[in-house]
Amino acid sequence: MAQVRDQWTTRAGFILVAMGSAIGLGNIWRYPYTVYDNGGGAFLIPYFVALLTAGIPLLLLEYSLGHRYKGSAPLSYRRLSQKWEWLGWWQVFMSFFIVTYYIIIIGWALSFAYYSIGTQWGDDTNAFFFGSYLGVSDSFWNFGGLQWKVLLPVLLIWGFVYFVMRQKAHKGIERLNRILLPILIVMLVIITIRGITLEGATDGLNVLLTPDFSALLDHNVWIAAYGQVFFSLSVGFATMITYASYLAKDTDLSNSGFIAALSNAGFEFLAALGVFGALGYLALTTGNDIQEVVSSGIGLAFVVFPQIINTFPGFNDFFGLLFFGSLTFAGLTSAVSLLEPGVSALRDKFDLGRTKAVNIVCGVAAVVSILYTFGGGIRFLDVVDNFLNSYGLLFGALAMITAVAWTTNQLDNMQSHINNVSDVYIGAWWKICVKYVTPVMLLFMLVQNLMQNFMLDYEGYPIVGNLTLGWGAFFTTLLLGIITARMKWKANTEMLDLFRKMKEGA
Ligand code: PFF
Repeated sequence: MAQVRDQWTTRAGFILVAMGSAIGLGNIWRYPYTVYDNGGGAFLIPYFVALLTAGIPLLLLEYSLGHRYKGSAPLSYRRLSQKWEWLGWWQVFMSFFIVTYYIIIIGWALSFAYYSIGTQWGDDTNAFFFGSYLGVSDSFWNFGGLQWKVLLPVLLIWGFVYFVMRQKAHKGIERLNRILLPILIVMLVIITIRGITLEGATDGLNVLLTPDFSALLDHNVWIAAYGQVFFSLSVGFATMITYASYLAKDTDLSNSGFIAALSNAGFEFLAALGVFGALGYLALTTGNDIQEVVSSGIGLAFVVFPQIINTFPGFNDFFGLLFFGSLTFAGLTSAVSLLEPGVSALRDKFDLGRTKAVNIVCGVAAVVSILYTFGGGIRFLDVVDNFLNSYGLLFGALAMITAVAWTTNQLDNMQSHINNVSDVYIGAWWKICVKYVTPVMLLFMLVQNLMQNFMLDYEGYPIVGNLTLGWGAFFTTLLLGIITARMKWKANTEMLDLFRKMKEGA
């Protein structure tokens, strides 16, 4: 059976799905506390440097790979050079593992949207989230019981996502984005306006916007900026290669990339303004210092926000629904973009129909995700997330650059490909960033991360936990990638060989 590739209906459809993938939990939940942890306003400088020198260049590289080779990540890399197919699979498995816990956080958000009605979380929001809701166990290896309150919304989300994924990409994923993204943007704007007009908001905004320039000398701040840009732009996970492979032949790439990247950065910033305005308000109402009310990470959205909503001057339930609803919507459009690389890759290699591929990917991912619905789940989630993002993503991006720029020397051709189809001309800066600036930064970050004790003491979790779950996730995805790449192609083999011969003859 010859596979017919799905195709987005229009270029605007592509820009929407790319934005939908980028704007996710990373914008609303991760960005504000990352900015706060890394010097407030000064973080914006490394962030924009990272966006311009690494984020946008790699985004365009992924677009050009998918568009030029018209394949899922493994097929695109294979068409680049047979030697690199494994990298495509590695990235596919990474997105697969990430979606197994990403869905969990969307499940939490959905639950909290429901708990907003009548502010059911009560006064002690910390005890509610970690205790009554998550039922966090007392130690790392204590699995705790299965948490029905978590499992149920997660299953609901899986059901919905499965329904979307079963349809062709332009019917399911594109339509989901066309509906949810405009709603999400309106929701975020309302939240931000409310956040910055609350009493005391200026104190919060001052914390966000007052630069601590000494932070610029701290390499960890730079590492955080690059990490945030990659995660937030969905670069390095095979997503953008897959999405770009569904584009019509002569579609503009560079302009679409700039629109997606800059609007993502804009919404990231908008959400941060709203969140910090609200934190300033909380500091005022509780009489605490703003530093005290900002708890980092997961707590910011699920502990501090309910607390803020409790003390809102009016429409409490409405704003709770709005905040957690927007988190749910933002998460959903990103979750489908983490599933599509696997679906597309299975179809390309094993000649599967869409339904079968979706059944496999969603089915296995749903089963794996149950692990995180136990009492100990939040720690497992934390470890896997950290190791995949600190190492898998960075090594994967470095390998991608090595493949295209250093071994197959295809960077010039990629540049011509982009320029042939695009309105905005991509100059030498792009090649310099992809070939030199980004890999140097990536190497630096990797060495720094590795030197910090291999992260074996991450969060003070037991070393065996960090080893088995953290490094385990890293090597499992890599091994699965290598093994799958060695399997025999069931589909398109003649086309593949033809393509290669044509290229070699050229
Ligand atoms: N960009 C998404 C966010 O900011 O939450 C997360 C993400 C989606 C990362 C898709 C990677 C990806 F392939």
